[in-house]
Amino acid sequence: MDQQLISLVNKLQDVFASIGVSNNIDLPQITVIGSQSSGKSSVLENIVGRDFLPRGTGIVTRRPLVLQLINRPAANKPAQANGNADGEKAEDAMAKVQLNENNPDEWGEFLHLPGQKFHDFHKIRDEIVKDTEKMTGKNAGISPNPINLRIFSPNVLTLTLVDLPGLTKVPVGDQPRDIEKQIRDMLMRFISKPNAIILAVTAANTDLANSDGLKLAREVDPEGTRTIGVLTKVDLMDQGTDVVDILAGRVIPLRLGYVPVVNRGQRDIDQSKSIASALENERKFFESHPSYAGKAQYCGTPWLARKLNIILMHHIRNTLPDIKARISQQLNKYQTELASLGGALGETNPGSLVLSTITEFCSEFRSAIDGNTNDLSLNE
Ligand code: GDP
Ligand code: NA
Ligand code: MG
Repeated sequence: MDQQLISLVNKLQDVFASIGVSNNIDLPQITVIGSQSSGKSSVLENIVGRDFLPRGTGIVTRRPLVLQLINRPAANKPAQANGNADGEKAEDAMAKVQLNENNPDEWGEFLHLPGQKFHDFHKIRDEIVKDTEKMTGKNAGISPNPINLRIFSPNVLTLTLVDLPGLTKVPVGDQPRDIEKQIRDMLMRFISKPNAIILAVTAANTDLANSDGLKLAREVDPEGTRTIGVLTKVDLMDQGTDVVDILAGRVIPLRLGYVPVVNRGQRDIDQSKSIASALENERKFFESHPSYAGKAQYCGTPWLARKLNIILMHHIRNTLPDIKARISQQLNKYQTELASLGGALGETNPGSLVLSTITEFCSEFRSAIDGNTNDLSLNE
């Protein structure tokens, strides 16, 4: 996630904490939907920049995973120091986060294992697999009962991501007869929330018109204001074919557009290829491919992360006026009460100081997103 955004939101949340405002910015949840094995878990993992989700062929994600990222300053640094004041580019910041393996300030904790800190992200994956099997058995069973995982890190924006089982039609193993409906209902529960950002994942080597993820997204978000199309497996497309028409909005147009990505293939997973080298591989793929070379900056995981950041910034910007109004309302109320008690508040009372801090923040925020908002869509 963008370090600049992380720093801005932290600053704002510090201001709220200092005045005891509980109605904080309600950040959206990012949810992934799509067919089984389309690459949903892989996409989420690349966005977070850490290896910890079970991935693979067949139905691997069999319960929802509600992943709460929680920003927590590094132990030896003051709260303000973990952002980046000089407006570092999103891509640079992200690369840094992703290369920073084994950070003692980063760990995971499961709701079902309170107090147990997982510093080794591979052990987090083992625990997800173990607890999935505990609830659903080993034979492809599913359950709507979510696994709740929190990741504490100085490098993340406090935000919730949800990994979900894929849409499937034919029951296998211990799956119920009505598996299709059960998974559909499970996904609907998450994506129908108005603050859910939907990553509708479709493998580029399958037909977009049959995309289960896009169909479901359209049901809950017909205007397309919170759906991003993600095209995975672009590296597996037949030679001579590409996703250029889709990107240009000529197949199924999406207001927020599509982002093509290349995740790690099964062989890369078997060989434990790192996220850093996978991203490098992805970058080279788009830069050297004749269809994408001219648009490589709008392809791949870094651009997807950037797009998410822009959407988050819009969301925060839209939330701010309401928060400001509520604070100034409270302030007026206290001033009236105080006046009725015979006191008066001068210009320098703490309440108006807070309000001016927030006003200042809003303009700082606005200038930070200036110029960032026009490149949101690739649709022509
Ligand atoms: P999910 O079931 O939708 O969560 O999909 P996974 O993330 O588990 O991935 C399913 C399989 O597809 C795994 O074997 C991945 O390695 C593979 N995969 C996912 N994305 C890509 C991609 O962009 N390129 C290639 N070659 N393989 C991918
Ligand atoms: Na899978
Ligand atoms: Mg999965």
